[in-house]
Amino acid sequence: MIRARDIVKSFGTNRVLHGVSLTLRKGEVVAVIGPSGSGKSTLLRCLNHLETIDGGSIEIEGETLAEPGADQRSRYVPDAEVRRICRKMGMVFQSFNLFPHMTVLQNIIEAPMTVKGMAREAAVPIADALLRKVGLLEKRDNYPSRLSGGQKQRVAIARALAMEPDIMLFDEPTSALDPELTGEVLRTMRQLADDHMTMLVVTHEMGFAREVAHRVVFMDQGRIVESAPSEEFFRAPQHPRTREFLAHML
Ligand SMILES: Nc1ncnc2c1ncn2[C@@H]1O[C@H](COP(=O)(O)OP(=O)(O)O)[C@@H](O)[C@H]1O
Ligand SMILES: [Mg+2]
Repeated sequence: MIRARDIVKSFGTNRVLHGVSLTLRKGEVVAVIGPSGSGKSTLLRCLNHLETIDGGSIEIEGETLAEPGADQRSRYVPDAEVRRICRKMGMVFQSFNLFPHMTVLQNIIEAPMTVKGMAREAAVPIADALLRKVGLLEKRDNYPSRLSGGQKQRVAIARALAMEPDIMLFDEPTSALDPELTGEVLRTMRQLADDHMTMLVVTHEMGFAREVAHRVVFMDQGRIVESAPSEEFFRAPQHPRTREFLAHML
């Protein structure tokens, strides 16, 4: 579903991704872990073109998003193609990013109506079904300010799903939440995984990485240091830096 090869990304003179390669297969749940500043968010943002890459290539469901030109700098396909390809991916951020001036329902139907041109009559039943799925149908007419952090994040997940993505990217979806609210969000994500959604999840939740993810990728200083099936990753981490990180986290 995603094939990224040798991604290089700098901000000014600061190189933050030093040739990162990653594949994500259909139905696979991959957890990305690593210390703060290691480039996890940048990697996710590069995959769905919230950042542009300097080097390397990205393919989404077999379609090229960017690949190196003759000078080795990455070139993107035309804008309309980039937008169409990136629509296959939904993203959930640490900070929810709901529209504060819209109700829960309006938040969810906005993109299907404006981006996909869906009629309101078609978008509303889909939104209701998604709200039921994340357990928040009774909040559909509330404004985000009336919701808890956990509820906001579940709405954000429903909003991303409303665009019917094939792949979901999560960037520390529970890091902004009080500990007692992380469970409800993790349960929603686990449910998505059980429904065979393809997911790439940056997280500090080692329980989720261990129990829900099929594979764990450990990043440090802009590189993937280790990648292994989750059971193996936690049982027998190979790299000293992985072991050191896990010793701090577990
Ligand atoms: N928009 C940006 N402009 C400049 N530097 C950035 C930007 N985004 C991230 N960085 C830098 O890139 C590095 C990796 O950041 P990030 O991808 O957010 O790491 P992580 O998500 O693993 O904490 C950090 O040094 C950070 O300061
Ligand atoms: Mg981050």
